[in-house]
Amino acid sequence: MNSSEKDSPPSTDSSSPVARCFALVPCAGSGSRAGTLKPKQYELIAGQSMVMHTLAALGSVERLQQVLVVVSPSDSHVWPEAPEGQRARRPFQRIACGGDTRAESVFNGLSYLLKEGEHKPEGVQAHDWILVHDAARCLITELEINRLIDACIDDNVGGLLALPLPDTLKAAVNGRVSQTLPRQDKWLAQTPQMFRAGQLHAALKAKQAENFEGITDEASAMEMAGFAPKLVVGSPHNFKVTYPPDFALAEDLLGSRT
Ligand code: CTP
Ligand code: MG
Repeated sequence: MNSSEKDSPPSTDSSSPVARCFALVPCAGSGSRAGTLKPKQYELIAGQSMVMHTLAALGSVERLQQVLVVVSPSDSHVWPEAPEGQRARRPFQRIACGGDTRAESVFNGLSYLLKEGEHKPEGVQAHDWILVHDAARCLITELEINRLIDACIDDNVGGLLALPLPDTLKAAVNGRVSQTLPRQDKWLAQTPQMFRAGQLHAALKAKQAENFEGITDEASAMEMAGFAPKLVVGSPHNFKVTYPPDFALAEDLLGSRT
């Protein structure tokens, strides 16, 4: 593909349908850094499991047609019940096709959705948008998801929520500073990340033979395919629950919203 082809928007002639938005939630990790007994996404935070907070936020976004949750084949029996009164505001689908890495889980889920779309016109088509969002970012809000959609829906490539780096950035060797790096052009990538389903699938497929080496988010796959994803300012509250102290912070923030 040459650069002019990449810069040109997908076909928008009158016969091509309007692109719709779908969500895919990678939820198949083990949470090894969290120090919890079960995978962290199933831990209770402010009264319900982490993944249910995440799904409640996605479920409140009118423009999302469908939410697919990718769980690990070994977790498929542990699915948490949503509390009474919070069930199925928007139905989501769960599939046990999680892989060894986050990228593989996303690739498997996206392959499933596109395959399903071949038989169902209401399913995901290659030109539709897919918003990939970590189950472990349970503080995402409807407002932020809509901000990303608004910023990317008319873009040729798509983009991601991210934060300009606030602190001074150090490189280290053996626990001591080796260098201070310029931070002016540095951003912290978050999710959701929003790309055309077909383009993201192709970008991930190109890295499948290398076990998705170096693909830590969807944007990195798109970058390797030659695209320049758009950066959309997110919120510091949308952090990824990763280490033990993150649970208390998430609990406080979620508790303060109700
Ligand atoms: N994830 C996934 N499949 C994997 C690994 C991760 O679907 N094989 C998901 C996680 O469930 C999480 C998101 O990707 O919602 C972000 O990953 P991360 O925070 O790194 O979670 P874990 O990989 O579970 O945690 P750790 O790296 O500490 O083991
Ligand atoms: Mg991980």
